[in-house]
Amino acid sequence: NFTPNAFVEEMVAELKEKVGDDKVVLGLSGGVDSTVAAVLLHQAIGKNLYCIFVNNGLLRKNEFQNVLDQYKGMGLNVKGVDSGDRFLSELAGVSDPETKRKIIGRVFIEVFDDESHLIEDVKWLAQGTIYPDVIESVSVKGPSATIKSHHNVGGLPDYMKLKIVEPLRMLFKDEVRRVGATLGIDPELLGRHPFPGPGLSIRILGDITPEKVQILQDVDKVFIDGLKSWGLYNKVWQAGAILLPVNSVGVMGDERTYEKVVALRAVESTDGMTADWVHLPYDFLMKVSNDIINKVKGVNRVVYDISSKPPATIEWE
Ligand code: XMP
Repeated sequence: NFTPNAFVEEMVAELKEKVGDDKVVLGLSGGVDSTVAAVLLHQAIGKNLYCIFVNNGLLRKNEFQNVLDQYKGMGLNVKGVDSGDRFLSELAGVSDPETKRKIIGRVFIEVFDDESHLIEDVKWLAQGTIYPDVIESVSVKGPSATIKSHHNVGGLPDYMKLKIVEPLRMLFKDEVRRVGATLGIDPELLGRHPFPGPGLSIRILGDITPEKVQILQDVDKVFIDGLKSWGLYNKVWQAGAILLPVNSVGVMGDERTYEKVVALRAVESTDGMTADWVHLPYDFLMKVSNDIINKVKGVNRVVYDISSKPPATIEWE
């Protein structure tokens, strides 16, 4: 029987006590965990919390600006760092999924480290680590931690000698959402689907180019907006689109086309360790498929992923 009010009260007191007048830096991702961690710390220490929100160029369409504005509206002391070009140029020509993750992890640390050096005399690094992250990163068998290298935990380079503060370390996701609600965070933000740290890079199979990112952002937006307007978004645990590295033949008017194929994925899950594909209504799939093909230039075919985890994973890479 977890009570979010009591948690907030105790944690704010504990953070005040622990951090005192020190400065704290925190990386915001746009996700639920880092946002709730930031708002808790902000309640405890106000402007001494320095938030950094990095655009890796692989976020959803318009997400960097929209979420940054939202953070500012919440009164957070946040700096948006637009490093999209740097990430994309480091990723150019790279197709291997694990190499993509490693590059993104490394560049993120470089950008974050540069930014934290600009904050004079910062003493702490705050992270939105939650209990399942802790378990997954220590467990020998934790499937996604061992099969894919996640970066949610332990991304601290040696040369950043900061003390770590993780206010959500003992909480499960649903408890984090309840704490967020108690803190008055926008329910829409709290209800957001999980989104992987490496972002759209692992949903573009093969090498990544700015053009492919843009195509996938446009496709993803049609799909996610569609889920929302059909009242399906909150019935799905996670959804997204994948840009496949193949072209297929199509026809438009009396022209033959030879364009990209995208896959749509929507899953039900509780923790991401296992997942079932969602039986989205055929009418919805038909509408979304037509919208994607009509609106997004360069795509002439849409397929729906009907694989469960295991043996498939949620992401394709
Ligand atoms: P998989 O594909 O392993 O995904 O079934 C399980 C959950 O983890 C997310 N995921 C990641 N999250 N960094 C992250 O922060 C990653 O490298 C990564 N790979 C997968 C995935 O979106 C799903 O929620």
